[in-house]
Amino acid sequence: MNAQMECMSCGTTLGIAEIAYTCRECDGLLDVVYDDAPGDPEELKIRFRERRLSDAPADCSGVWRFRELLPFADFSHIVTLGEGNTPLWDVPRAAAWAGIERLTVKHQGMNPTASFKDNGMTAGVTQARAVGANVVACASTGNTSASMAAYAARAGMRAAVFIPDGQISLGKLSQALDYGARTLQIEGDFDAALALVRELSDVDPVYLVNSVNPFRIEGQKTIAAELCEQRGWRVPDRVVLPGGNLGNVSALGKGFMELMDWGFIDRLPRITVVQAEGAAPFAAMIRDKAPTLTPVPNATTRATAIKIGAPVSWPKAVRVLDVCGGEAITVSESEIAEAKAVIGSDGVGCEPASATTVAGLRQLMDCGRASRDEDVVCVLTGHLLKDPDFTVNYHFGRLEPGAELANEPVRVESNIEAIRAALEG
Ligand code: F0G
Repeated sequence: MNAQMECMSCGTTLGIAEIAYTCRECDGLLDVVYDDAPGDPEELKIRFRERRLSDAPADCSGVWRFRELLPFADFSHIVTLGEGNTPLWDVPRAAAWAGIERLTVKHQGMNPTASFKDNGMTAGVTQARAVGANVVACASTGNTSASMAAYAARAGMRAAVFIPDGQISLGKLSQALDYGARTLQIEGDFDAALALVRELSDVDPVYLVNSVNPFRIEGQKTIAAELCEQRGWRVPDRVVLPGGNLGNVSALGKGFMELMDWGFIDRLPRITVVQAEGAAPFAAMIRDKAPTLTPVPNATTRATAIKIGAPVSWPKAVRVLDVCGGEAITVSESEIAEAKAVIGSDGVGCEPASATTVAGLRQLMDCGRASRDEDVVCVLTGHLLKDPDFTVNYHFGRLEPGAELANEPVRVESNIEAIRAALEG
């Protein structure tokens, strides 16, 4: 497919091999746009599926097996860790807690670096290689940096990570360090770190792979295709996503909209974006029907992945809600913590930011904005082990007084009687 980059504000176009993250004329966000459809949808659906039987690295990837939907011509140099192909699971206890008949979760935490970032990063780092970059960089609340560091290492590139000092979970920091990234702890928050790395990438030969980079969004949009494929191409009524920098909602929305335009699906899902109360500039913008986003100066939430006050991709997120329908809502810290423990009780672990989805769905049910028989998919964005401190603190009762599902370990004397008594208790 012939593709180019196009500014979503002024329509200026750029060639696919150009190094640009925003429009050179007006600084608007760039989209990858295609001249034509990728081909016959029914034939392609079969081809996507058949690739699951192949051992070729590109076919083993849940991103690159959808390669006809992507703006790359040469697939011999892709940087892949076999990302995607993540499970879709029924979570009956979480469904009952949210007040809905049935609920499924798509667990993007089951990726090679344990977050949804891998779907976009394989495309971002492949593009970095295609344009001849030697250094990739990003600002991150942890998951983007873990993912970038891994893919850069696979590609033999240097990686520079900008993280807000002391504000990311150790699981994520440990990944960036182990994968060999140069890790800079920046004074200030994520928004400050992102502003700095964007400035650097404008002047130095450093390729930026934050989600403002449109190739990241292209890789990540395949989550929508895979989700539809796993459901026999039946589109859910609603997809619920956490909102931070708003790259993910932009990517999934673009994915669904293209699948619809190209004849793979016959309707769009409603999209619900859920933010933490203390980091909710997008939900506020949508609630107030404001024309632009007003950043939150000191965003706060224990869900550090989405502790973001100035999300860059908000115009794309607005477009997704306009086209798909849906809403942006907020949840409290205690709702996030309870929802996370409920998801855990289904045997599915996720990190706090991911649990906003189930908390948000419960809120929609409570206020009658979603119905019991709706077909809903919540996207879990990161794995439980990304942030074990949060989980342990919750279960020891250190996060929330009266945490309903707290499951504190029990100290037991080392004899059978005491153990029996403890098991009965
Ligand atoms: N969930 C998790 C686990 C995340 O790590 C992020 C973002 C989000 C949700 C929100 O997604 O930004 O696309 O709206 N993490 C970024 C990072 C910011 O640096 O890892 P978004």
